[in-house]
Amino acid sequence: MISLHDICYLRLGCRDLDEMVHFGTRILGLELRERTATHAYLRGDNSVFNLCYIQGDASYDASAFALREYAHLQQAADELQALGIAVQWGDEAACAERHVDAFFEFIDPNENRIELVYRPHVTGVRYFPSRDAGITEFGHFGLHSRDIERDLAFWTQTMNARVSDRIGDGALLRIDPVHHKIALFSSDKTGVQHVNFQVESIDDVMRSWYFLQEQGVPIVFGPGRHPTSTAIFIYFLGPDKRVYEYSSGVKRITDEAGYVPRHFEMKPTSFCMWGARPNVKEFSE
Ligand SMILES: [Fe+2]
Repeated sequence: MISLHDICYLRLGCRDLDEMVHFGTRILGLELRERTATHAYLRGDNSVFNLCYIQGDASYDASAFALREYAHLQQAADELQALGIAVQWGDEAACAERHVDAFFEFIDPNENRIELVYRPHVTGVRYFPSRDAGITEFGHFGLHSRDIERDLAFWTQTMNARVSDRIGDGALLRIDPVHHKIALFSSDKTGVQHVNFQVESIDDVMRSWYFLQEQGVPIVFGPGRHPTSTAIFIYFLGPDKRVYEYSSGVKRITDEAGYVPRHFEMKPTSFCMWGARPNVKEFSE
């Protein structure tokens, strides 16, 4: 059985690394911890990195999860291969590039590039933000899905994520008590759909709302509150055209055995109980 311990990092291709470093540090509020000619490693906690921007193919992305034991990683590779999914183990250089002890990558049924890793490195130095956005942790990410029932079956049956709630076709999945760490959104695309960082409080969400507007950053949804996870949120667009999110107050599901997922109707009020209207199609009808 594959047991995901936590989300780990995202590798995100980009055309202009300088532009993404500026956005990551001056807008998003991450710390730039390492920079090479082609890679920029940014973080919002004491991990070595949460996001790695890579100069080159802007459509490239990879989503990584950590497993607790090396034996779990080997077992996961066996299980995926038994299902006919090829796995590619990373060599020493690839592990060094990711700051992990071991990993393999595979392509999921939606053609999303997924990496499973063992021992992602953390630092003994606390996260020192370049802008005080109030970030407390790398919260979750969304993945596109071109066939939601196929992908939901993969993520729940093979990867053992649990459905916390559904909104229309979309699904919010947990791998620990946090309401969701993976969100599947029905679309015609592949890869990462949005990138979330948790912030400390509603004050941080609202401060950023004003700050982002002053900086001319397009707001795509919010501020608002999700009726599903109860989190207060704001979504905005990066220069890489990816959607980024701050949120605060995500619900934790502690009654794992007794919890029953809810199925919210596909209406804007299922994404925001305050009445905010999204202007990206994944969050509306
Ligand atoms: Fe989100």
